[in-house]
Amino acid sequence: MIIWSPLCAAALLFAVFAPLPAEAAPRSLGPVTQSSPREDGVDLRLARGARARISFVTPEVLRVRISPSGAPFEPDTASYALTESPPQAKAVLRRIGPQLLELRSASGTRVQIRRAPELQLSVFDSAGRLISADDPARPIVFDPQEGSVEATKRRDDYELYYGFGEKALPLSRHQQHLVMWNADVPDYAPGHDPSYQAIPFFIALHQGLSHGVFLNNSSRSWFDMGKTEPQRWRFGAARGELDYFVFTGGPERSPARVLQDYTALTGRGPLPPLWALGYQQSRWSYKTQDEVLRVAREFRQRQIPADVLYLDIDHMDGFRVFTWNPSTFPQPREMLGQLHAQGFRAVTIVDPGIKRDEGFAIYRSGREAGVFMRGADGQELHAKVWPGICAFPDFTSPAARDWFGQLYAAPLELGVDGFWNDMNEPGVFAPDGFNQPEISLGPQKTLPLDARHAGDGRPGDHARYHNVYGLQMARASFEGLRRLRPEQRPMVLTRAGAAGVQRYAAVWTGDNSPSWTHLALTIPMLSNLSISGVPFVGADVGGFMGSPSAELHSRWLQAAVLTPFFRTHSNDVSAPREPWAFGPEFERINRATIELRYRLLPYLYSLFEENERSGLPPLRPLWFNFPRDVRASLVDDQFLLGRDLLVAPVLREGERQRRVYFPAGEAWLDWWTGRRFEGGSEATVAAPLDRLPLFIRVGAAVPTQALLQHTGEMRAAPLALTVAWGRSGRSEVFQDAGEGYGYRRGAARRIGIRQDGQGLTLELDLPPNAGFQRLARLEILGLDRASPWRFDGQPLPAQKDETGRLRLELPAAADEGLHQLRLAH
Ligand code: GLC
Repeated sequence: MIIWSPLCAAALLFAVFAPLPAEAAPRSLGPVTQSSPREDGVDLRLARGARARISFVTPEVLRVRISPSGAPFEPDTASYALTESPPQAKAVLRRIGPQLLELRSASGTRVQIRRAPELQLSVFDSAGRLISADDPARPIVFDPQEGSVEATKRRDDYELYYGFGEKALPLSRHQQHLVMWNADVPDYAPGHDPSYQAIPFFIALHQGLSHGVFLNNSSRSWFDMGKTEPQRWRFGAARGELDYFVFTGGPERSPARVLQDYTALTGRGPLPPLWALGYQQSRWSYKTQDEVLRVAREFRQRQIPADVLYLDIDHMDGFRVFTWNPSTFPQPREMLGQLHAQGFRAVTIVDPGIKRDEGFAIYRSGREAGVFMRGADGQELHAKVWPGICAFPDFTSPAARDWFGQLYAAPLELGVDGFWNDMNEPGVFAPDGFNQPEISLGPQKTLPLDARHAGDGRPGDHARYHNVYGLQMARASFEGLRRLRPEQRPMVLTRAGAAGVQRYAAVWTGDNSPSWTHLALTIPMLSNLSISGVPFVGADVGGFMGSPSAELHSRWLQAAVLTPFFRTHSNDVSAPREPWAFGPEFERINRATIELRYRLLPYLYSLFEENERSGLPPLRPLWFNFPRDVRASLVDDQFLLGRDLLVAPVLREGERQRRVYFPAGEAWLDWWTGRRFEGGSEATVAAPLDRLPLFIRVGAAVPTQALLQHTGEMRAAPLALTVAWGRSGRSEVFQDAGEGYGYRRGAARRIGIRQDGQGLTLELDLPPNAGFQRLARLEILGLDRASPWRFDGQPLPAQKDETGRLRLELPAAADEGLHQLRLAH
């Protein structure tokens, strides 16, 4: 259970309301005076000058655009969220009453448009079920002076909401007021909002049926999901259009379909380089190159798998980005070479603030290129961050993005492998504000709202572009790296972002704290980020803001080991936190935890490839796969990894067992013991300090691999399949080079696995192996009997191991072609 303190609510109120324009004053748009049909919908004019367009993007995706001032609609890409102009789907408009129009898509999804006394929309799915309806008692309102606009929808008591990006809030966002305003909030308390990245998209769940809504407006916006009035939810934006999409979820009204349709518009996370899925070790900071190399050596000597080491701000010369401290990192090239020789990659931090220093070539070059932001007075804008007074690239200018992207040439040439974009809300130091939480946590801890942005041809102030600053920085980094190394997959990590951030970067949840409460918070936070379209997410293991106990640290490592982005990181005053830092007993536990990650990497990698194709995230809250299971909808202390693994970390101090809920309609096997649990039930499971409670879905085949120390060793490591025996099911394993884009040109293989419903056969379909991991073994869970087995008609011996698994070593010829394993009776 997470405790939501009233203190944070007070901080929230201050943060949200103090320095920003007031929310909308009530003035309605008036009735519709004119309607003109279009191929994909209808254009409307309203009595007080507003214009509206209601159109279908696909038969299952509706778009509503309202320009309250009557100004022409903005270009589709103005919010930076959409990858391109959405498609148009045919719609038929007809009059169904004196004041009632109806717009119908090819699938039968309908919108009823009431023309008077106010514009009012009701959306129905193709089966005639109401999805969402404007509230007749609360017409759309706008404030001509402030430019804000707000709409209110009716709400059923039992409707739940998930998404909204990164929020330190409970799993479902019903009865919450949420603000979309990226903020640097170190040590955020549970309940504090806003946070580092706001994504105005949610998936609703009501009686097993889903739909989604995305507000395509990146200025400050807000959503009140039944907090003020339980029978209503309302949303609005401080500026611009009320431009929103409604995703019906298809005829099945599934959350997966909503997310597929949302990510079709805003983009999907590209497959990361394989190494970025390995374990990553960071701290603020490893202070010298010798220390970095010592840490690397220790990982290898102690045989604890790891792939990445991070260099935080102290590797720089006076915190000047893209420089190296000459006394502490005198030979970065040699250091990086030695890291690579041991199978490590290095990621360096890159902040947006560029020290105003005439002696700093990058500052001079940026000034000469005219890429820095200007204040309302037209002068170069300055604010204080780590290096002192800084200038800030205007990432909403293509020239600035190109200029910044090019700066990566130098570290790439030295051998740096990935980049970490931080402080890009942007967070700046409030003058004298450090000791006053209301200032250091408040929205004024950013650039002045009247500072200027180029806005890619649509100039505007920081109030308008604030929320996309981090997104555009990540874009500059990603696109720069793509240009510089076209055949390498960029690894960019970003703290701030907005809708569409998944196109460019992984995301971590900022400066969390070393407490059990914060550990528990990681599950709702990462679940909601994931279903906001952002697949590559993680939280600093152990909590950033101090020193966890050995137990908390080990439990956190377990809770994080199957989260997509797996990094330990801590601040400058915390005690050492390498896996061995807590003594031999904890070192043994932590090693085993990290080894689990490495055993399951082939599965995780396949999930990322699935995400690139479908937008479905690797990490999922239970309800996402089981929307009709009412009990699953509020489970906030477990998550799913793909379809097949259920993860139930221990989140409380001293606990050595925990209750686990098994989603209905499936059966689950304990990964460690093979014990079977029926779906729809709860059970107490053992969770000694060295065990992460983990379960596999019956019918699944999950790829695992032999133990290794880093992903560079993967290709030679044999692959195994852990098969949860007993139900029909299909699985797929994706294999490729782990780097580059060959897989998009066919240099990959997909292993197909099919289990029959009778529990008798398993079929394998293996395309030719062009240098991928060899399938060498099956490990079968869920069967008491060890034999007799026949593989392609021949007897195959099975060994039962201590976890109850039957191990079957496959003949070499099994790695290609069609094969059948049969349980003979
Ligand atoms: C910010 C980041 C943190 C980093 C620190 C120093 O607080 O969130 O991860 O270590 O800055 O760069």
